[in-house]
Amino acid sequence: YGTIGIIGAMAEEIELLHQHVQVSSETAGAGITYYEGTLHGKPVIFCKSGVGKVNAAVCTQLLIHLGADCVLFTGVAGALDPTLNIGDIVVSSTCMQHDMDVTPLGYKRGVIPYQERSEFAADPKLVELAVQAGDKHFAGRTLVGKVLSGDQFIASREIVHDLYESMNGACAEMEGAAVAQVCDMNNTPFVVIRSMSDKADGSAHINFAEFTIQAANHSYTMIEEMVKNM
Ligand code: ADE
Repeated sequence: YGTIGIIGAMAEEIELLHQHVQVSSETAGAGITYYEGTLHGKPVIFCKSGVGKVNAAVCTQLLIHLGADCVLFTGVAGALDPTLNIGDIVVSSTCMQHDMDVTPLGYKRGVIPYQERSEFAADPKLVELAVQAGDKHFAGRTLVGKVLSGDQFIASREIVHDLYESMNGACAEMEGAAVAQVCDMNNTPFVVIRSMSDKADGSAHINFAEFTIQAANHSYTMIEEMVKNM
């Protein structure tokens, strides 16, 4: 896999990477700091993207430009699949933007006009490595499913139902499809790994802060196990 690019959505995750990666150099770009070093002897480059698709896209492009040969993205998401519980993990089969809407011109929801692809498939080997890591370390479920991204924090049962029924999303978050599209444009393999922090139904504020620390620990454990096996 060459140099492994790792993007965390949260400061807590980056903090754990800092504790474990032997950092050899730092580069700044577009207000983001990229740290290069080794984790379990493997070359890695990691950074914090910030929230939303624009931050994620810029961050991914720079990460690839600085030498990442693949991209692992971790963070939290709201569950859409009603069988998912808080703490479960979704590994991306594909990623799509749920807020890309050119339906007035006859395009299906999520379809990017004049673009060859709008649903971006994760690398099957990275998906397998993520599932193995999840199954090895967590009692909860590790589901492979479609990750839907949009610049909205979903907090309504109706929207959850709609995104699940009409777009078949396993979870909703705010960066994955942007990372996926940039990776696709650069022929770079990727996978998105998300811990469920809430059920996207408006009760997120109750679990969100508390769950962040646990989720960051989960994500780091997954990344570490994957990197060992890459
Ligand atoms: N990340 C975590 N929970 C989320 C939600 N409900 N909607 C969008 N992004 C999220």
